[in-house]
Amino acid sequence: MKIAVANGDGIGPEIMEAVIHVFNSAKVPLEYQFVDMGKWVFDKGFSNGMTPEAKATIEDLGILFKGPMETPKGKGVKSVNVTARKTWNTYANDRHFQTLNGVDTVFSKAGINIDLTIVRENIEDTYGGVEHMLTQDVALGRRFITRPGSEQVIRYAFEMAKKKGAKRITCGHKANIMKLTDGLFLEVFKEVAKEYPELNSDDIIVDDLCMKLVSRPETFDVIVLTNLQGDIVSDLCAGLVGGLGFAPSANIGDHISIFEAVHGTAPDIAGKNIANPTSLLLSGLSMLRHLGLMEQAVIIENALLYTLESGVHTGDFGDKTIPSVNTTQFSQAIIDNFGKLPKTNPRPHLNNFDFVPTNSKITVNPMLEGSHKEERKIVGADIFIESNLQPNAIAKIAIKHETENLKLNIISNRGTQVWPTGSVYTNLVNQFRLRFESKEDNTVTQKDVINLYSSLSNDFQISSIETLNMWAGKKGYSLAQGQ
Ligand code: NAI
Repeated sequence: MKIAVANGDGIGPEIMEAVIHVFNSAKVPLEYQFVDMGKWVFDKGFSNGMTPEAKATIEDLGILFKGPMETPKGKGVKSVNVTARKTWNTYANDRHFQTLNGVDTVFSKAGINIDLTIVRENIEDTYGGVEHMLTQDVALGRRFITRPGSEQVIRYAFEMAKKKGAKRITCGHKANIMKLTDGLFLEVFKEVAKEYPELNSDDIIVDDLCMKLVSRPETFDVIVLTNLQGDIVSDLCAGLVGGLGFAPSANIGDHISIFEAVHGTAPDIAGKNIANPTSLLLSGLSMLRHLGLMEQAVIIENALLYTLESGVHTGDFGDKTIPSVNTTQFSQAIIDNFGKLPKTNPRPHLNNFDFVPTNSKITVNPMLEGSHKEERKIVGADIFIESNLQPNAIAKIAIKHETENLKLNIISNRGTQVWPTGSVYTNLVNQFRLRFESKEDNTVTQKDVINLYSSLSNDFQISSIETLNMWAGKKGYSLAQGQ
């Protein structure tokens, strides 16, 4: 089996060499094709941080094992890590956090065993990076949560939870506030949960989740979250088990999957052969399991756990009264411990529980579609305008542009209603939303909305517009605070 390997920048080449040495010593049946990605590729003028050959190789082989990579600052280029995850639709970020004996944390000292997996949606949410300045004072970022995108990651989480015999699968969300976006993610979670009655599924508001993760982490097993919340919660969990150096990361897609260390390139210690390769090794172990190489994965993981338990450590962690070892010595210690089992929590031989990728070659972009196909009905429009006037003055002008079908219903500022009712204590910024709605939910046409836009543009600077839609009698838009 051949996989693509990108060493990365900074400490990347050192830790990659250490991990591949461990793999080769365990006779892992993999061949490695090294590809060009990272800072020096940006520097050569490839704006996405990878050469066309690297892209073709990864798409051909389907697996990328990568070290950390630096994104050049101030050049307007996007992170190659994020580009890779998004380009190849690795929709599920799977990160397993476990107590590692020898890596002291408040929980390990208290005898609390942590063994949980965060599955984070990896493509959507505010990570689409679709942002605009509506006025010089007001920035707007769009948050995309889609039904099929949510279903992909949630289904992955349920499949993984089922195959590993999880005791619980939890959806973290903020649907009490973001009723449409997080509400959709939660709705899909509940729909998919019905197909897995054997699993104990529940949901929790993300702030409560954070509190419970730091007070009772042992009660959780698999947690699935949207992108930004998952990003934050997964680093919180890394902190529970000793930091980013002990947190593997797998980015799973249907065709291509990426396995990487989540820490950065550590430029301060690069080239010194003192970096800790554990995070990359743990990510490599999830890659071996993903590829069905269970036998080698369990031997290496138990040797790593034994090594940590025996007090061998690199300079960044461990008992400071025991001298630290360098990267080469650390990986050699793991190799010397092949066949040994740690006293606590030895890993069992697991059956292949990873998602089975389709691995098929494709020639057109897959179109994801949800199952809901009701007819759209336009019932109004939100017109966002720039103005320094008071709400009553804006209303007075805006009402002149009402049509037979479209009436001004509310004006809001930063989501809070300020007209027809409101409070003078609500601070205003120079951007208002005028919500025009049809009487008795009559159907409005796109032309009606364009005509309204055109008419309002005689009196206002318009920065943005959203049509208000309904499907099957359900509003496809949120109400203003106070509406
Ligand atoms: P960093 O993770 O590189 O370093 C933070 C601190 O942790 C440093 O003191 C470093 O020496 C230490 N450290 C990190 N990994 C270590 C390891 N394996 N062994 C021992 N010590 C380790 O984060 P920083 O400094 O914020 O970022 C440096 C560069 O890395 C930036 O250019 C950033 O863009 C890039 N980066 C890349 C990531 C990726 O490729 N996935 C993720 C995060 C940052």
